[in-house]
Amino acid sequence: MRKLNDSFDPLYKIYHENSKLHKDFYQKVPGLPDYTKEIKKKYYNRIEVKLPKNISLDINNTNLFTCIKDRKSIRNFDDNRTVTLDQLSIFLQYSYGITHREADRSFRATPSAGAKYPNELYVLVNNVKDIEKGIYHYSPYAHSLSLIKNGSYIQKFIDEFHHDQYLKEIVGSSKFTLIITGIFDRTTHKYMERGYRFCLFEAGHIAQNSMLIANAMSMGSCGLGGFFDDNINSILEINGVDENALYLISFGYENKIVEYDYNEFFE
Ligand SMILES: Cc1cc2nc3c(=O)[nH]c(=O)nc-3n(C[C@H](O)[C@H](O)[C@H](O)COP(=O)(O)O)c2cc1C
Repeated sequence: MRKLNDSFDPLYKIYHENSKLHKDFYQKVPGLPDYTKEIKKKYYNRIEVKLPKNISLDINNTNLFTCIKDRKSIRNFDDNRTVTLDQLSIFLQYSYGITHREADRSFRATPSAGAKYPNELYVLVNNVKDIEKGIYHYSPYAHSLSLIKNGSYIQKFIDEFHHDQYLKEIVGSSKFTLIITGIFDRTTHKYMERGYRFCLFEAGHIAQNSMLIANAMSMGSCGLGGFFDDNINSILEINGVDENALYLISFGYENKIVEYDYNEFFE
């Protein structure tokens, strides 16, 4: 095996080396946290939108295999079709909602190392029936959305999202955009450096759930990695150190009339 060279190897290789699991790991960890504790992010004095519960999903005979096969990135969304609050509710429930309880603890739609659930979801609601435009935080415990910024901030979000007009149009024409953040300490507290990897894996689990659910509801999605981190963090009112935006995904119905030349994405 090659030895890492601290002076020449790039930071990501140094980080990876330092997040490897070794036999003495559990002797080195300062002490395990209270395993039964659930960390809940709560907002006070905000408008709260309770999401409808127990709605049945109209899956149009779509099965999981079809959803996987048909998923592709959609970058131009149709303005004419409606997304409802019921759909948004199902979408969030099956992306990262609570699915079951065991021994007084709640478990989610994604796996999570140590069941620490280090990720948070925010939704930029652009055009969804029965809910005002705005940027909301999703609480899986209450299955509700708390308003972080009202509709007037959506344009600011889009303006500050990325310098590329093309990408701004994806967010701007979407019905809604999911923002997955990570609160690293929830996982690193137990797994130290390796916990950072887990936080990113888990964002991927959430993202894939959300994309496949979108397909099951006849919608499409586009994952967006090219965003200005701290502009988004500040709009979400998170500090960019303890909690950070990790991944954005826009959702809507595919506009089958407009054809784009995607070559610039594949350079
Ligand atoms: C982490 C990640 C970040 C991405 N960021 C962008 C992006 O900023 N802009 C964009 O147009 N597509 C983005 N994509 C979509 C990829 O370009 C797309 O998944 C890839 O071309 C494969 O095509 P498909 O999704 O249609 O299968 C991203 C995908 C992932 C997984």
